[in-house]
Amino acid sequence: MPWPTIRGEERGVGLKTIAVLTSGGDAPGMNAAIWAVVKVAASRGINVVGVERGYDGLVDGVFRPLTRAVMSSGNLAPAPGIDGMAGSGGTLLGTTRCRRFYDPQGRREACRQLTMAGIDGLIAIGGNGTLAGAHLFAEECGSVPVIGIPASIDNDIGCTADAIGVDTALNTIIDACDRISDTARSHHRAFIVEVMGRRSGYLAMAASVAAAADAVLLPELDRSEEETITSVEKIIRQSFDAGRDKRRVLIIKAEGVSITATDLADRVHERLSDHPDVDIRATVLGHVVRGGRPSYHDRMVAGRLALGAVNSLAEGGHDQMVAWSTTTDGGERTDDPRVSIFPLDIVLEETEALLDGSSDITKRRVLRMQSVQGVLAL
Ligand code: F6P
Repeated sequence: MPWPTIRGEERGVGLKTIAVLTSGGDAPGMNAAIWAVVKVAASRGINVVGVERGYDGLVDGVFRPLTRAVMSSGNLAPAPGIDGMAGSGGTLLGTTRCRRFYDPQGRREACRQLTMAGIDGLIAIGGNGTLAGAHLFAEECGSVPVIGIPASIDNDIGCTADAIGVDTALNTIIDACDRISDTARSHHRAFIVEVMGRRSGYLAMAASVAAAADAVLLPELDRSEEETITSVEKIIRQSFDAGRDKRRVLIIKAEGVSITATDLADRVHERLSDHPDVDIRATVLGHVVRGGRPSYHDRMVAGRLALGAVNSLAEGGHDQMVAWSTTTDGGERTDDPRVSIFPLDIVLEETEALLDGSSDITKRRVLRMQSVQGVLAL
């Protein structure tokens, strides 16, 4: 079957039914985004169907209505079960990391499922993998316009200052670090706390100052294992020096720094054999950071990005991502001064540059972290 297609100028005209999905790692605020898509679309007479379990559900055509017609007025309203979900963590639609969507055959089947279900627009909420999939799909399946909404705790998506979920994840990390600090101070201990983020050190970097950490270990600093061990040894020696009244050392390590938190603690411990009383512990926060009720900021960003996404589909937008950004280099402004819209290929290019260290944003982050390392350790 050839890829079905529609002419660009016909997009958005008479939009009747749109689909929304969440894919990849869940992020707090995804439900707030789904809820806002439903409310905005319903208010304009556009039906919304939810795709279960991300791109897997798209390939298998597993859809469920998220709007329903109100008997008395005929107006659309959110379907039962949606109400009250905006404040919950995770994703009510479920999510997967779908291997079949990497394959053109899988994407072709997804396109066929959407077309058969009479869906004339798709909103994909997720991180890098989700947006890369959305771009391929948008290029191939010309009959269904696609708009992405950035949601990932890693904050590693190009063109957007914030992705949905980052603020909540940071609050969780800070809360966990405060708790760890309470027990660390009681015992005069050093803690190495590992936080998620995949290849990005953003969460570790942003949490370090707010949690009053003594050091932060980021993949972007590009240190060898030996350099990492030596720097941690130095910080701990310095901190627990006789004459210092320091009761705890907190080191935040990003997941992307290849040595594990436990190995790092053990290796540093070996080097501190002249300080047998120094106790170093490792804690991996892991998925704790991905769960929980979304913060005000994440709900607010989710709502405004969702509004931008529905507007964009209604205006004929395609192969784009709505971004929490006041700069529009390569993108366009929307009616909301904090929301811009960018072509997905530009977003993906910028994402790669963020991760390989070539983007100015990453370079600035590294410089900033290098300049505060000495201050953190005081
Ligand atoms: O992308 C979000 C994220 O939580 C990363 O920080 C982490 O590396 C990854 O997902 C873990 O994924 P999973 O839950 O599939 O193991």
